[in-house]
Amino acid sequence: MDADENTAITRVLMFPWLGYGHITPYLELAKKLTTRGFFIYLYSTPATLRCMKQKRKTFSHSIKLVPLLLPNLRGLSRRFYTTNGLPPNLMPKLKEAFDLSAKGFSYMLAFLKPDLLIYDFLQPWAPMVAKERNIPAVEFITSSSTMTCFMFHYFKNPEEKFPYSEIYFRDYESSNMRRLLDCASNPKERDMASEGVERSCNIVLIKGFRDIEDKYIDYVTSLVGKKFVPVGPLVQEPIADEKDDGSSEIFSWLEKKEKKSTVFVSFGSEYFLTKEDIDEIAHGLELSKINFIWVVRFPKGENGRNGLLQKTLPKGFLERVGERGKILQGWAPQTKILRHDNTGGFVSHCGWNSVIESMNFGVPIIAVPMHLDQPINARLVEEVGVGIEVVRDRNRKLHRETLAAVIKQVVMEDCGEAVRQKAAFMSEKLKSKGDQEIEEVVKELVSLRNLETRAKSRISLCY
Ligand code: UDX
Repeated sequence: MDADENTAITRVLMFPWLGYGHITPYLELAKKLTTRGFFIYLYSTPATLRCMKQKRKTFSHSIKLVPLLLPNLRGLSRRFYTTNGLPPNLMPKLKEAFDLSAKGFSYMLAFLKPDLLIYDFLQPWAPMVAKERNIPAVEFITSSSTMTCFMFHYFKNPEEKFPYSEIYFRDYESSNMRRLLDCASNPKERDMASEGVERSCNIVLIKGFRDIEDKYIDYVTSLVGKKFVPVGPLVQEPIADEKDDGSSEIFSWLEKKEKKSTVFVSFGSEYFLTKEDIDEIAHGLELSKINFIWVVRFPKGENGRNGLLQKTLPKGFLERVGERGKILQGWAPQTKILRHDNTGGFVSHCGWNSVIESMNFGVPIIAVPMHLDQPINARLVEEVGVGIEVVRDRNRKLHRETLAAVIKQVVMEDCGEAVRQKAAFMSEKLKSKGDQEIEEVVKELVSLRNLETRAKSRISLCY
């Protein structure tokens, strides 16, 4: 490789799925790459890019936000062109509109002429479109390697048990397992999920780091015959100016609490709790007698609706907990809360970003997984030792007493000391290792670009 090849700017079009939990790690990867000479186009719908506005001051002008225009579909207005706050019944419509955007995407590639495409797992058509334009494409998966290899294991060997016994679905999660096996036995669905990986040039990028997922990264690499390259934790830095996100009241409240005395309770950017779970969580928080900040979310348009919160929470709950608890509606400055010294636990659904953010700030996890990859991530949290899961009963009912007991154990009781220590240790480890993974990612991407530059039309090299 000559010097020019090393220093030439690589222009990358990044194309994440339309979720906050997806675009955030893409942005964090973009930030790391731009400090190493890359130029990034971050391509997404205006509704998804809106959350980047507040973060604008945290990234350089080498990241350009490019609006993705979806075709109009009846019943799906523009404010729903993002999974954040999307009513669940509209998810299939959003996916349909997204798939129909392939043509516009092709024009965008022709217009911007990037050297490389980085795409998400929900659009196996994107690398095909790029191939038509001789642009190499690499997949970047924002889920854990643990979930990804669990899925590919059952795609390849549906009859064989997963070889690592710590990772499994519980009996009451049989619908998750059934869904996975249905997908494995249905060539159309299975191939659709596999194609994204197969079409990725030489490598697949994945959010995570070897210290906690070593064997799962190696296993998925051997299962799909393509090198999985972890990109590191990619945690978003809390935004410095507290006034911007309207959260200063929460922080003056949190400031008055004791060190590590408060739990943060949140279930991600997409999930809406059932009425039954809301009841058990509220009573569980009450029984635990521990301070809490709880983000309660409703589908877009319903947040802030008069009296909805009061109607949803158990009668008299807010009065009974008084100064001990704070409820935020819709959204919380999560990383800023996790970073705060007085936060001592995170009641989390175990979305992959939340898990890694918690590890990064040394906050032990009280795991309450809901669906998708979350149960598998929760098993990993226990395997690593940074949290304890709140196990439901065989009918999938969450019990307030169990939740309260696990919160107390993780936050204050002697029997939770090992978990607290492991969480603190993990945070130190993450701080000390810096950007190791990114150097490897840069090397891989630059060598891919150089291969491409040397011989104009060798997409066949890639797949
Ligand atoms: C989705 C899936 O639900 C999850 O299972 C998968 O692992 C990733 O995609 P989401 O549910 O949003 O993600 O959870 P998570 O991965 O934890 O990402 C949420 C992100 O939004 C985190 O970065 C978190 O800090 C941020 N967030 C969420 C806030 O800043 N404030 C909030 O109120 C809610």
